[in-house]
Amino acid sequence: MKLIEVRSYEELSRVAADCIIDRVKSNPAIKLGLATGGTPVGTYRNLILDHEANGTAYRQATTFNLDEYVGLDPSNPGSYRYFMQERLFHWIDIPAGQTHVPSGVCSDPERECEAYEDLIRKAGGIDLQLLGIGGNGHIGFNEPGTSFHSLTHLVELDPSTREANARFFSSREEVPTHAITMGIRTIMDSREILLLVSGEGKRQALKQLLNGPVTEEFPASILQRHPHVTVIADSAALGRQR
Ligand code: F6R
Repeated sequence: MKLIEVRSYEELSRVAADCIIDRVKSNPAIKLGLATGGTPVGTYRNLILDHEANGTAYRQATTFNLDEYVGLDPSNPGSYRYFMQERLFHWIDIPAGQTHVPSGVCSDPERECEAYEDLIRKAGGIDLQLLGIGGNGHIGFNEPGTSFHSLTHLVELDPSTREANARFFSSREEVPTHAITMGIRTIMDSREILLLVSGEGKRQALKQLLNGPVTEEFPASILQRHPHVTVIADSAALGRQR
């Protein structure tokens, strides 16, 4: 794993966006794996600014998001489809049909998971996967204990994850209990991975990611075995003085 140390969240967001822009320019038909949550918001903001200023094109790109809450339709502001529309897709030139987020309101979640996995495979796999990390080591919504062999699947969210994500809802009770997420194997099959870690709250998780054993009890630890992972971490996450 390559570690890039940056001072602040702003710098992390610029460095991450520069990396994505570089890959998009060298491969305009790139298959991008995307994440939601608080961490990538600044990165998406920089992608939009760059698109406006420099015209970086996404017309040929295809995106696959990591996950979606079960029970929330795309018009629900808590849904990850809504988040992606607001934070990125609406502001760049990517055709809507080339953006993919699992459906949280499908009648048959099992089939939705298989179909999502199929879509990724038929697209030729993911070239660059953007990731955040949960305080408990989750990647996507793969909570501790998830098999390293898992493909896209239905999960019950850990109480700590629902608690952490309550900030995106008006009350804790509104946070859905289940989600559809790419599996660990789906993520590991990506050709390149960019993991963003920001803030003091992620310090322990980052330490465990960089130095801990590879174990299903800490899902992100599997990234140690991926041949092409870059971790971008800020001073607060690294526990260093600015
Ligand atoms: C989001 C996702 C999650 C988040 C993680 C960190 O699509 O899959 O794994 O990356 O929960 O979230 P934030 O960035 O809000 O700390």
